[in-house]
Amino acid sequence: MSMTTTTKTNEIAILVTGATGTVGSEVVKQLTSPSSSLSSGSRVRAAVHSKDKADKLRSENKEVEFFHMDYNKPETIVDSLNGIDKLFLLTLPTPNMSEIASRLIKEAKKNDVKHIVKLSVLDADAEPGILIGRMHRQEEKIIEESGIPYTFLRAGAFMQNFINFFGQTIRTQNAIYIPAGDGKVSFVDVRDIATVASKILLTKNNDSKDKQQYEYKKFNITGNEALSYSQAAEILSNALGRRLSYVNVTEDDARKAMKKMQMDEWLIDALMELYSVIRSGYASQTTTVIEQIIGRKPISLDQFARDHASFFG
Ligand SMILES: NC(=O)c1ccc[n+]([C@@H]2O[C@H](COP(=O)([O-])OP(=O)(O)OC[C@H]3O[C@@H](n4cnc5c(N)ncnc54)[C@H](OP(=O)(O)O)[C@@H]3O)[C@@H](O)[C@H]2O)c1
Repeated sequence: MSMTTTTKTNEIAILVTGATGTVGSEVVKQLTSPSSSLSSGSRVRAAVHSKDKADKLRSENKEVEFFHMDYNKPETIVDSLNGIDKLFLLTLPTPNMSEIASRLIKEAKKNDVKHIVKLSVLDADAEPGILIGRMHRQEEKIIEESGIPYTFLRAGAFMQNFINFFGQTIRTQNAIYIPAGDGKVSFVDVRDIATVASKILLTKNNDSKDKQQYEYKKFNITGNEALSYSQAAEILSNALGRRLSYVNVTEDDARKAMKKMQMDEWLIDALMELYSVIRSGYASQTTTVIEQIIGRKPISLDQFARDHASFFG
Protein backbone atom coordinates (compact mmCIF):
# COMPACT_ATOMS: atom_id res chain seq x y z
CA MET A 1 0.00 0.00 0.00
CA SER A 2 1.48 3.34 -0.99
CA MET A 3 1.77 6.02 1.66
CA THR A 4 1.01 8.65 -0.98
CA THR A 5 -2.55 7.42 -1.15
CA THR A 6 -3.07 6.87 2.58
CA THR A 7 -1.61 10.02 4.15
CA LYS A 8 -4.29 12.42 5.40
CA THR A 9 -3.79 16.14 4.86
CA ASN A 10 -2.48 16.89 8.36
CA GLU A 11 -0.51 13.71 8.88
CA ILE A 12 3.26 13.78 8.79
CA ALA A 13 4.70 10.87 6.82
CA ILE A 14 8.07 9.82 8.22
CA LEU A 15 10.66 7.38 6.90
CA VAL A 16 12.83 5.87 9.63
CA THR A 17 16.06 4.31 8.34
CA GLY A 18 17.95 1.74 10.41
CA ALA A 19 14.52 1.02 11.87
CA THR A 20 15.37 -2.33 13.47
CA GLY A 21 18.51 -1.07 15.21
CA THR A 22 19.15 0.28 18.69
CA VAL A 23 18.13 3.86 17.94
CA GLY A 24 15.80 3.34 14.96
CA SER A 25 13.62 0.77 16.72
CA GLU A 26 13.14 3.18 19.62
CA VAL A 27 12.27 6.01 17.22
CA VAL A 28 9.63 3.80 15.53
CA LYS A 29 8.30 2.75 18.94
CA GLN A 30 7.97 6.33 20.16
CA LEU A 31 6.48 7.63 16.92
CA THR A 32 3.80 4.92 16.95
CA SER A 33 3.12 4.17 20.61
CA PRO A 34 -0.61 4.66 21.28
CA SER A 35 0.20 5.84 24.80
CA SER A 36 2.58 8.47 23.50
CA SER A 37 1.23 11.95 23.03
CA LEU A 38 3.86 12.24 20.33
CA SER A 39 2.23 9.73 18.03
CA SER A 40 -0.92 11.53 16.96
CA GLY A 41 -0.83 12.68 13.40
CA SER A 42 2.11 10.68 12.15
CA ARG A 43 2.44 7.85 9.71
CA VAL A 44 5.61 5.81 9.78
CA ARG A 45 7.46 3.87 7.11
CA ALA A 46 10.28 1.72 8.47
CA ALA A 47 13.28 0.92 6.28
CA VAL A 48 14.28 -2.61 7.21
CA HIS A 49 17.27 -4.69 6.17
CA SER A 50 17.61 -8.26 7.46
CA LYS A 51 14.48 -10.41 7.35
CA ASP A 52 14.55 -11.76 10.92
CA LYS A 53 14.78 -8.30 12.48
CA ALA A 54 12.13 -6.96 10.08
CA ASP A 55 9.77 -9.78 11.09
CA LYS A 56 10.28 -8.98 14.77
CA LEU A 57 9.61 -5.26 14.26
CA ARG A 58 6.58 -6.10 12.13
CA SER A 59 5.11 -8.27 14.88
CA GLU A 60 5.49 -5.40 17.36
CA ASN A 61 4.21 -2.59 15.11
CA LYS A 62 0.99 -3.17 13.25
CA GLU A 63 0.61 0.46 12.22
CA VAL A 64 3.91 0.74 10.40
CA GLU A 65 4.55 0.39 6.67
CA PHE A 66 7.69 -1.61 5.89
CA PHE A 67 10.17 -0.96 3.12
CA HIS A 68 13.08 -3.29 2.39
CA MET A 69 16.32 -1.35 1.96
CA ASP A 70 19.91 -2.45 1.55
CA TYR A 71 22.27 0.51 1.52
CA ASN A 72 24.66 -1.45 -0.67
CA LYS A 73 22.04 -2.08 -3.35
CA PRO A 74 21.14 1.33 -4.78
CA GLU A 75 18.03 -0.02 -6.49
CA THR A 76 16.50 -0.72 -3.05
CA ILE A 77 16.73 2.97 -2.11
CA VAL A 78 14.73 4.17 -5.11
CA ASP A 79 11.09 4.97 -4.22
CA SER A 80 11.74 4.68 -0.47
CA LEU A 81 10.84 8.35 -0.03
CA ASN A 82 7.72 8.51 -2.20
CA GLY A 83 5.08 10.47 -0.27
CA ILE A 84 7.41 11.12 2.67
CA ASP A 85 7.59 14.48 4.48
CA LYS A 86 10.42 13.79 6.90
CA LEU A 87 13.40 11.48 7.01
CA PHE A 88 15.12 10.07 10.09
CA LEU A 89 18.53 9.26 8.66
CA LEU A 90 20.69 6.66 10.34
CA THR A 91 23.64 5.23 8.48
CA LEU A 92 26.55 3.22 9.77
CA PRO A 93 30.14 4.41 9.64
CA THR A 94 31.39 2.35 6.70
CA PRO A 95 33.87 3.37 3.99
CA ASN A 96 30.96 4.01 1.56
CA MET A 97 28.85 5.98 4.07
CA SER A 98 28.83 9.26 2.11
CA GLU A 99 27.96 7.46 -1.14
CA ILE A 100 24.95 5.88 0.61
CA ALA A 101 23.95 9.23 2.09
CA SER A 102 24.20 10.90 -1.33
CA ARG A 103 21.77 8.36 -2.80
CA LEU A 104 19.29 8.85 0.01
CA ILE A 105 19.53 12.64 -0.12
CA LYS A 106 19.03 12.57 -3.90
CA GLU A 107 15.82 10.57 -3.36
CA ALA A 108 14.78 13.00 -0.61
CA LYS A 109 15.28 15.95 -2.93
CA LYS A 110 13.38 14.22 -5.75
CA ASN A 111 10.45 13.61 -3.42
CA ASP A 112 10.41 17.11 -1.92
CA VAL A 113 11.18 15.88 1.62
CA LYS A 114 10.72 18.80 4.02
CA HIS A 115 13.12 17.91 6.83
CA ILE A 116 15.94 15.47 7.56
CA VAL A 117 16.80 14.52 11.14
CA LYS A 118 20.21 12.90 11.03
CA LEU A 119 21.81 10.88 13.79
CA SER A 120 25.41 12.03 14.04
CA VAL A 121 28.17 11.95 16.65
CA LEU A 122 29.27 14.37 19.34
CA ASP A 123 31.48 17.13 17.94
CA ALA A 124 31.27 15.81 14.39
CA ASP A 125 32.84 19.06 13.17
CA ALA A 126 35.88 18.97 15.49
CA GLU A 127 39.16 19.64 13.64
CA PRO A 128 40.98 17.40 12.94
CA GLY A 129 38.60 15.22 14.92
CA ILE A 130 38.46 11.46 14.53
CA LEU A 131 37.60 9.24 11.59
CA ILE A 132 34.06 8.38 12.73
CA GLY A 133 33.32 12.07 13.34
CA ARG A 134 34.72 13.05 9.95
CA MET A 135 32.58 10.42 8.23
CA HIS A 136 29.46 11.79 9.89
CA ARG A 137 30.52 15.36 9.09
CA GLN A 138 30.91 14.45 5.42
CA GLU A 139 27.35 13.13 5.44
CA GLU A 140 26.15 16.27 7.23
CA LYS A 141 27.77 18.41 4.51
CA ILE A 142 25.92 16.48 1.79
CA ILE A 143 22.67 17.28 3.58
CA GLU A 144 23.63 20.96 4.00
CA GLU A 145 24.44 21.20 0.30
CA SER A 146 21.09 19.66 -0.65
CA GLY A 147 19.25 22.70 0.74
CA ILE A 148 16.77 20.46 2.59
CA PRO A 149 16.10 21.72 6.15
CA TYR A 150 17.90 19.52 8.65
CA THR A 151 18.57 18.83 12.30
CA PHE A 152 21.77 17.03 13.25
CA LEU A 153 21.55 15.05 16.48
CA ARG A 154 25.19 14.71 17.47
CA ALA A 155 25.02 12.09 20.17
CA GLY A 156 27.51 11.09 22.82
CA ALA A 157 28.26 7.44 23.68
CA PHE A 158 25.12 5.35 24.10
CA MET A 159 24.33 3.75 27.46
CA GLN A 160 23.09 0.85 25.34
CA ASN A 161 26.76 0.10 24.47
CA PHE A 162 26.84 -1.57 27.88
CA ILE A 163 24.38 -4.08 26.37
CA ASN A 164 25.44 -4.21 22.71
CA PHE A 165 29.22 -4.12 23.10
CA PHE A 166 30.07 -4.95 26.72
CA GLY A 167 26.99 -7.00 27.57
CA GLN A 168 28.55 -10.36 26.98
CA THR A 169 31.52 -9.86 29.31
CA ILE A 170 29.31 -8.16 31.89
CA ARG A 171 27.04 -11.21 31.89
CA THR A 172 29.75 -13.86 31.85
CA GLN A 173 32.68 -12.21 33.69
CA ASN A 174 31.17 -9.21 35.52
CA ALA A 175 33.70 -7.06 33.67
CA ILE A 176 34.08 -4.36 31.02
CA TYR A 177 37.34 -4.49 29.04
CA ILE A 178 38.32 -1.36 27.10
CA PRO A 179 41.35 0.94 26.81
CA ALA A 180 39.53 4.08 27.98
CA GLY A 181 41.78 4.95 30.95
CA ASP A 182 40.17 7.33 33.43
CA GLY A 183 38.59 9.42 30.67
CA LYS A 184 35.05 10.52 31.32
CA VAL A 185 32.15 9.97 28.95
CA SER A 186 28.75 11.71 28.95
CA PHE A 187 26.69 8.55 28.32
CA VAL A 188 23.24 9.09 26.85
CA ASP A 189 20.28 6.69 26.76
CA VAL A 190 19.06 6.10 23.19
CA ARG A 191 15.49 6.36 24.49
CA ASP A 192 16.19 10.05 25.13
CA ILE A 193 17.72 10.47 21.67
CA ALA A 194 14.58 8.86 20.20
CA THR A 195 12.31 11.18 22.20
CA VAL A 196 14.22 14.21 20.92
CA ALA A 197 14.13 12.85 17.34
CA SER A 198 10.40 12.07 17.55
CA LYS A 199 9.56 15.50 18.91
CA ILE A 200 11.43 17.17 16.06
CA LEU A 201 10.04 14.80 13.40
CA LEU A 202 6.50 15.50 14.56
CA THR A 203 6.84 19.27 14.34
CA LYS A 204 4.25 20.36 11.82
CA ASN A 205 5.54 22.18 8.77
CA ASN A 206 3.24 25.11 9.51
CA ASP A 207 4.49 25.51 13.10
CA SER A 208 6.94 28.33 12.51
CA LYS A 209 8.15 28.67 16.13
CA ASP A 210 9.18 25.00 16.39
CA LYS A 211 10.56 25.02 12.86
CA GLN A 212 12.81 27.93 13.80
CA GLN A 213 13.92 26.08 16.92
CA TYR A 214 14.93 22.92 15.03
CA GLU A 215 15.64 23.62 11.38
CA TYR A 216 19.27 24.03 10.28
CA LYS A 217 20.38 23.21 13.85
CA LYS A 218 23.16 20.98 15.17
CA PHE A 219 22.66 19.66 18.70
CA ASN A 220 25.28 17.93 20.84
CA ILE A 221 23.18 15.42 22.79
CA THR A 222 24.54 13.98 26.03
CA GLY A 223 23.44 12.60 29.35
CA ASN A 224 23.49 14.69 32.51
CA GLU A 225 26.91 13.76 33.81
CA ALA A 226 30.28 12.59 32.58
CA LEU A 227 31.52 9.36 34.12
CA SER A 228 34.68 7.32 33.83
CA TYR A 229 34.20 3.64 33.03
CA SER A 230 35.17 2.74 36.58
CA GLN A 231 32.47 5.11 37.92
CA ALA A 232 30.05 3.59 35.41
CA ALA A 233 30.96 0.08 36.62
CA GLU A 234 30.27 1.22 40.19
CA ILE A 235 26.84 2.58 39.25
CA LEU A 236 25.96 -0.60 37.36
CA SER A 237 27.18 -2.69 40.33
CA ASN A 238 24.93 -0.83 42.76
CA ALA A 239 21.93 -1.01 40.45
CA LEU A 240 22.39 -4.70 39.64
CA GLY A 241 23.36 -5.80 43.14
CA ARG A 242 26.65 -7.46 42.22
CA ARG A 243 30.22 -6.30 41.73
CA LEU A 244 31.25 -5.39 38.18
CA SER A 245 34.74 -4.18 37.35
CA TYR A 246 36.23 -2.04 34.63
CA VAL A 247 39.51 -3.37 33.26
CA ASN A 248 41.61 -0.72 31.51
CA VAL A 249 43.20 -3.04 28.95
CA THR A 250 46.11 -2.00 26.75
CA GLU A 251 45.46 -0.94 23.15
CA ASP A 252 47.37 -4.04 22.02
CA ASP A 253 45.10 -6.37 23.97
CA ALA A 254 42.00 -4.53 22.74
CA ARG A 255 43.21 -4.84 19.14
CA LYS A 256 43.87 -8.56 19.54
CA ALA A 257 40.40 -9.14 21.01
CA MET A 258 38.76 -7.15 18.18
CA LYS A 259 40.74 -9.05 15.54
CA LYS A 260 39.61 -12.30 17.13
CA MET A 261 36.02 -11.03 16.68
CA GLN A 262 36.90 -10.58 12.96
CA MET A 263 36.29 -6.85 13.00
CA ASP A 264 37.56 -4.89 9.96
CA GLU A 265 41.01 -3.36 10.39
CA TRP A 266 39.77 0.19 9.59
CA LEU A 267 37.06 -0.11 12.27
CA ILE A 268 39.57 -1.33 14.86
CA ASP A 269 41.77 1.71 14.04
CA ALA A 270 38.74 4.02 14.28
CA LEU A 271 37.77 2.61 17.69
CA MET A 272 41.36 2.92 18.97
CA GLU A 273 41.30 6.56 17.91
CA LEU A 274 37.98 6.99 19.75
CA TYR A 275 39.38 5.45 22.95
CA SER A 276 42.40 7.72 22.76
CA VAL A 277 40.04 10.73 22.55
CA ILE A 278 38.14 9.40 25.58
CA ARG A 279 41.40 8.90 27.54
CA SER A 280 42.33 12.51 26.80
CA GLY A 281 39.03 13.73 28.26
CA TYR A 282 37.45 14.97 25.02
CA ALA A 283 34.26 12.92 25.39
CA SER A 284 33.26 14.44 28.70
CA GLN A 285 31.27 17.52 27.73
CA THR A 286 27.66 17.61 28.88
CA THR A 287 24.85 19.65 27.38
CA THR A 288 21.28 20.45 28.43
CA VAL A 289 19.82 19.84 24.96
CA ILE A 290 17.63 16.90 26.04
CA GLU A 291 16.02 18.90 28.83
CA GLN A 292 15.58 21.94 26.58
CA ILE A 293 13.82 19.93 23.88
CA ILE A 294 11.77 17.41 25.83
CA GLY A 295 11.35 19.25 29.11
CA ARG A 296 12.77 16.69 31.50
CA LYS A 297 16.17 15.54 32.70
CA PRO A 298 17.98 12.81 30.72
CA ILE A 299 17.70 9.20 31.91
CA SER A 300 20.53 8.43 34.36
CA LEU A 301 22.89 5.46 34.03
CA ASP A 302 21.44 4.10 37.27
CA GLN A 303 17.93 4.17 35.76
CA PHE A 304 19.21 2.62 32.52
CA ALA A 305 20.78 -0.27 34.49
CA ARG A 306 17.63 -0.86 36.56
CA ASP A 307 15.45 -0.82 33.43
CA HIS A 308 17.67 -3.46 31.80
CA ALA A 309 18.49 -5.53 34.89
CA SER A 310 16.97 -8.67 33.34
CA PHE A 311 19.35 -8.43 30.37
CA PHE A 312 22.41 -8.19 32.61
CA GLY A 313 21.27 -11.37 34.41
N1 LIG B 1 27.17 3.54 19.78
C1 LIG B 1 27.40 4.81 20.14
O1 LIG B 1 27.83 5.08 21.29
C2 LIG B 1 27.09 5.93 19.18
C3 LIG B 1 27.15 7.25 19.65
C4 LIG B 1 26.81 8.29 18.77
C5 LIG B 1 26.42 8.00 17.47
N2 LIG B 1 26.39 6.71 17.06
C6 LIG B 1 25.97 6.43 15.67
O2 LIG B 1 24.77 5.66 15.73
C7 LIG B 1 24.69 4.89 14.52
C8 LIG B 1 24.40 3.45 14.90
O3 LIG B 1 23.08 3.39 15.40
P1 LIG B 1 22.53 2.08 16.11
O4 LIG B 1 23.33 1.82 17.34
O5 LIG B 1 21.07 2.21 16.24
O6 LIG B 1 22.95 0.97 15.04
P2 LIG B 1 22.53 -0.56 15.05
O7 LIG B 1 21.85 -0.95 16.31
O8 LIG B 1 23.75 -1.32 14.62
O9 LIG B 1 21.44 -0.62 13.89
C9 LIG B 1 21.80 -0.43 12.55
C10 LIG B 1 20.55 -0.46 11.70
O10 LIG B 1 20.95 -0.29 10.33
C11 LIG B 1 20.51 -1.42 9.58
N3 LIG B 1 21.47 -1.78 8.53
C12 LIG B 1 22.66 -2.41 8.67
N4 LIG B 1 23.22 -2.58 7.48
C13 LIG B 1 22.36 -2.08 6.57
C14 LIG B 1 22.37 -2.01 5.15
N5 LIG B 1 23.39 -2.49 4.42
N6 LIG B 1 21.31 -1.45 4.53
C15 LIG B 1 20.26 -0.95 5.24
N7 LIG B 1 20.20 -0.99 6.59
C16 LIG B 1 21.24 -1.55 7.24
C17 LIG B 1 20.40 -2.53 10.58
O11 LIG B 1 19.56 -3.56 10.10
P3 LIG B 1 20.03 -5.11 10.18
O12 LIG B 1 20.44 -5.31 11.60
O13 LIG B 1 18.84 -5.86 9.76
O14 LIG B 1 21.22 -5.24 9.25
C18 LIG B 1 19.81 -1.79 11.78
O15 LIG B 1 18.44 -1.56 11.59
C19 LIG B 1 26.00 5.07 13.78
O16 LIG B 1 25.87 6.05 12.80
C20 LIG B 1 26.93 5.55 14.90
O17 LIG B 1 28.04 6.28 14.40
C21 LIG B 1 26.70 5.67 17.87
